[in-house]
Amino acid sequence: MMQPAALELGSDLASVAASVARRLRQLGDIGRDPDSGWSRIAFTGPERDAHNLFKEWATELGFGTREDAIGNSYGSRPGDGPVLMTGSHLDTVPSGGNFDGAAGVVAAVEAAALLRSEPLRHPLTVVCFSCEEGARFAAPCVGSRAITGGLDRAGLEALRDSAGVSAFAAAQAAGLRPERIDSEIWEPGSVAAYLELHIEQGRVLQEAGRRIGIVDTIAGSTRVEIGLSGRSDHSGTTPMPMRQDALVGAAEVIAGAEQVAARTRTAVATVGRLQVSPNVVTTVPGDVRFTLDVRDVDPLRQREVAEEVLRQAGRIAAKRRLGVSLRLLHDQSPFVLPFWVREQLAGAAEESGIAYRVMPSGAGHDAGYVSLVAPAGMIFVPSRDGISHSVAEWSEVEDIALGAILLARSLRRLDGAPWLAG
Ligand code: HGY
Ligand code: MN
Ligand code: MN
Repeated sequence: MMQPAALELGSDLASVAASVARRLRQLGDIGRDPDSGWSRIAFTGPERDAHNLFKEWATELGFGTREDAIGNSYGSRPGDGPVLMTGSHLDTVPSGGNFDGAAGVVAAVEAAALLRSEPLRHPLTVVCFSCEEGARFAAPCVGSRAITGGLDRAGLEALRDSAGVSAFAAAQAAGLRPERIDSEIWEPGSVAAYLELHIEQGRVLQEAGRRIGIVDTIAGSTRVEIGLSGRSDHSGTTPMPMRQDALVGAAEVIAGAEQVAARTRTAVATVGRLQVSPNVVTTVPGDVRFTLDVRDVDPLRQREVAEEVLRQAGRIAAKRRLGVSLRLLHDQSPFVLPFWVREQLAGAAEESGIAYRVMPSGAGHDAGYVSLVAPAGMIFVPSRDGISHSVAEWSEVEDIALGAILLARSLRRLDGAPWLAG
C-alpha cells in the first residue's frame, strides 16, 4: 500500500522536529524551578496548567477535549466505537526533567496531526494521564490506575504524601471531582488499543546506536516504607556501645539492599527518600523512616529481593536493639505488553526503514495499567547518557519526531488490523 505523502519520512521529519521543539519549549515554561529542573507535581497548579496547554493543542487539531474525575485529559477526533488512544503524562518528579512524559504527550499530538487527513476506522484520542509519577504519593500511575478501575475512592484516600495529604484530597484541592471516579471508569472495550511513546530513561539505545526501542516488558515494583526506632541521645555524652542509633541501622540496611540487588541479573533496589528524627547535629538519631523501591522484570525475583532486604532489616534491628516497622506502599508485578501489538510497531518501523531494538522498561508507565484493559504498546526514544528524573534529562527532538512519525504509522497499521475491536 503506497504511503500517503503525509507520513513519508524525511520530508516531514524536519517539520515535525521543529513542532516538537516548539511544544517542549511551551511546556518548559510551566513548573520550571528557578534553580534547577521542573516540578510539575501531581495535582498542583503546574500539572493542571500543563494539561490545559495539552487541551489547547488538541483543540487546535479540531479535537473535542474533556477531563475526567481524576484529572486525566483527553482530546478526541469525532467518531463512534472503540478508540485508538495515544499519550503519556505531564507531571514530573520534583526538580525533574522536561522530557519524561512530556515527550510522549508531544509525540501523541504530533502523530494526531500527521493523521489528521487519514480516514481511520477508529476514532482517535490523545490522552494526558494525571499523577503518573510515584514521587508524591509513593505509588505510581494514579490517574491511569483509577480510570481503568484499579484504584477506587478508598484507594485514593489511602495514598498519602509526606504531609499526610491523600491523593483524593489533593485531587479535590486541584479542582477535580475524584468522588465521581467510580462512575467514570472506562467502559470495557472502549479503548481498542493504546500506544505510548516515552523516553527510555536508560542508556541501552544510546549504547546500541538505536534511535527507536519497542518495549516488551515493563518492570514491576515493590515499595515498602521501613521505620527504625532507637533512642535519641546526646552526641557527646553517649558512648558508642550504648547507642541505639536508628540512622546507622538504616545505613546498614541500605548497604545490604544494594548488595542483595547487585547479586541478581536484573533487580534494582533504591532507597530514595529518608527522614531522620530529630535530625539535629548534636543528637543521636532516634527514628528513621525510608522508602525501599525494588524493581525487576521477573516477578519472583522482585519479591525475593524485597523480602531478603526486609529480613536483613529485621536482623539488623534486633542486633542494634532497634524497633522496626514496615508499611507496604505499592506492589505491582511486571507487565508483558502483547506481542500482536509489538509486531504492529515492528512492522511500522520496518516499513519505514527504522532500525529498532526490542527491550524491557525499567521504569513504570501508564501503558502498563492501560494494558490491563486494552491492547497496549510502547515506543522508546533515547535518553542522553540514560539520565532521567533530573534537570540533566535530555532527548533529541529529531528522535522524538522520528518516534512521533513511527507512532502515527503504527496507529494507522493498528487501525487496519483485522483483530482490532470496533
Ligand atoms: O518511576 C518510574 O518508574 C516512572 O518514572 N514513573
Ligand atoms: Mn514517565
Ligand atoms: Mn518518571
